[in-house]
This record gives sequence, C-alpha cells and structure tokens, in this order.
Amino acid sequence: MRRERFDEIRAAFAAEIASAETESEVLDIKGRYTGKKRGILQDLMASLREVPAEDRPAFGQAVNALKSELEAGVESALQRVRAVRKAPPAVDVTLPGIPPDLGRVHPITRVRREIEELFIGMGYAIATGPEVEDAYHNFEALNTPADHPSRDIQDTFYISDDALLRTQTSPVQIRTMESRRPPIKIIAPGRVFRRDDDVSHSPMFFQVEGLVVDRGITMAHLKGTLAHFYRALFRREDIELRFRPSYFPFTEPSAETDLTCVICGGSGCAVCKRTGWLEIGGCGMVDPAVFEFVDIDAEEYTGFAFGLGIDRIAMLKYGIDHIRHFFENDARFLEQF
Ligand code: DAH
Repeated sequence: MRRERFDEIRAAFAAEIASAETESEVLDIKGRYTGKKRGILQDLMASLREVPAEDRPAFGQAVNALKSELEAGVESALQRVRAVRKAPPAVDVTLPGIPPDLGRVHPITRVRREIEELFIGMGYAIATGPEVEDAYHNFEALNTPADHPSRDIQDTFYISDDALLRTQTSPVQIRTMESRRPPIKIIAPGRVFRRDDDVSHSPMFFQVEGLVVDRGITMAHLKGTLAHFYRALFRREDIELRFRPSYFPFTEPSAETDLTCVICGGSGCAVCKRTGWLEIGGCGMVDPAVFEFVDIDAEEYTGFAFGLGIDRIAMLKYGIDHIRHFFENDARFLEQF
C-alpha cells in the first residue's frame, strides 16, 4: 500500500514533467511535488506517524530518495525546456516601414528666422541682450524716468529693486550703442515679459527691435525699410503702410505702424475689425535724449528705431486665433507646421 503510493507519485510526476514545455510549468510542478508548504512529498512525510516504529527509518529514507529523484527530474526538465529556443518572429521585408515622427520647427522660431533672413538681406546684423535687465537699460537710458507709467509695477516683473525681466527688446538698442559707434544697423529679436494675459497677450512673448544710426537717416528710410520688409514677409506687393502719430519715450517723432490687412487685403474683415488696417508695431526717430545717454552726437547722427511683435505676425501669417497656442506645446497644434 505504501509502496503503491510511492509508485503513484513517481508515475504522476513523470507524466507531468514530460509534458511540461516551459520553465514556469516545470517550476510549478516542482512546487506541487517537493514544495516545503503542502507539497505532495511533504504530505507523504507527514504520514510517518502511521508507520510502525521499526519501519520508520526505512520509510524516511525512501521519502528522501524519492525527493532526490524528483529533484533530478526537475533539473533535467529545466535543461530541456531552456534548450528549446523560440524561433524568431518572421520578418516580412516587403511590408512598408513605419516612418519616424519628426520634430518640427516651432512657428515662432520659423517666423523669427524668416524676419532675420529678410533683415540680414538688407545688411543688418543680429544683436542680443540679457532677458534679466537692469532698470537703467530697460527704462532710464530709453528716456523713461522713474515716474513714467510704463514702469508701473503692474506691467513689469521685478526681480529686485533694480533687476527686472525686460519688458521690451529696446534695451538692446542701448547696449548696442554703448559698445559700438555708428554706422549701426541691427535687429534684436528676443523674449520679453509683461504682466499681461488675454487672447493676444501672454506674460512672455517675442519682439524684434530694429535700430539704424548713421549720418542723414530720415523717417523716409524707416518707412521704406518697413514697407519692403512687410511686403516680403507676407509675400504681397499690394501691402501699404500707414504711420499714425504716436508716443514712445525713446523716439521723437513716434509713429504707430498700420499695415493693409493681410487677411482681407484692405476691404475689411473680423481680424482688422472692418478697418482694412492692422496695427503692427511702433517706430520713430531716435530721441536725441537717448543719444545723450550713450554719448552719440545728435548733431552729427540721426537714427530710426522700430519694434514689432513676432507672435502677432505669426498669428496673422498662420491664421492663429489665440496666442496661448504657441506656448501650450500641444503636438496636435505644432505638427501642423
Ligand atoms: N518697445 C516698444 C514696446 O514694447 C516698441 C517700440 C516702439 C520699439 C517704438 C521701438 C520704437 O524701437 O521705436 O511697446
């Protein structure tokens, strides 16, 4: 009876282990037979109590012998299943490939580069300046004294009493004129910051500053330069420019630049609020007071300056209705460019 039980276990194990095909199947069988907890051999050993005392040593030895036998069986089964290498998955080389998803150049960067190319083509150099500015370069030297409304804490992100996030790219004008003598012909593209947030304003946005200083520079040069620039940028020769008198502390006279609406061609639409004109930037002749800060002789030299928003141009160029799209980095938006 007891011998039969041994034979039963041996036979059942042999059958199971022979049909095991994977390592986990083998290990599962191992657990059920020789496992410390509730393994079949464990149960067998527990029946020792029912064995007559004189037979117990022999019984114990037999259980141990069976255990070694099963363990050897497990070992060889493991070797067998591990030796079976799975055939590699078939590759169908005639299937079309999966094209990798390529990154795109951000629309703001594209427009900035295009603007740079156009001005480089007119002989301009690219100038840069720090995004964390001091009040002197961002305001003071631009003829914007401490009591001027644009220095209001409401508009400017201050970092300390004197350090601030530049609210405009105009301080690059000052830094350029501090380090170089005329003739000067630069544009300064870059990030600017203001406490502002709506459909067309974001607390961080992009401007391009322009500055030309030489002998005999007039407002006609300014208007001709900007007209050529906008016609080339929007690829429309029918674009006209309109200067409206305005005020900036660092230019005199100053003008607001309006452009024939690039959406409707001037007939009136929602984007230009039925006026046929788009307000696109500020400009003017460099105020002699600014020349004084950078020690350029205003009797000898004149200059023009302008500032425009890259985001606004990109919105018009690509028909984008909210400035926030540029900064949310939603792939569904970005992959359209
Ligand atoms: N800095 C001005 C602004 O942020 C824009 C501007 C206006 C720049 C007139 C100029 C300029 O250089 O001449 O609103």
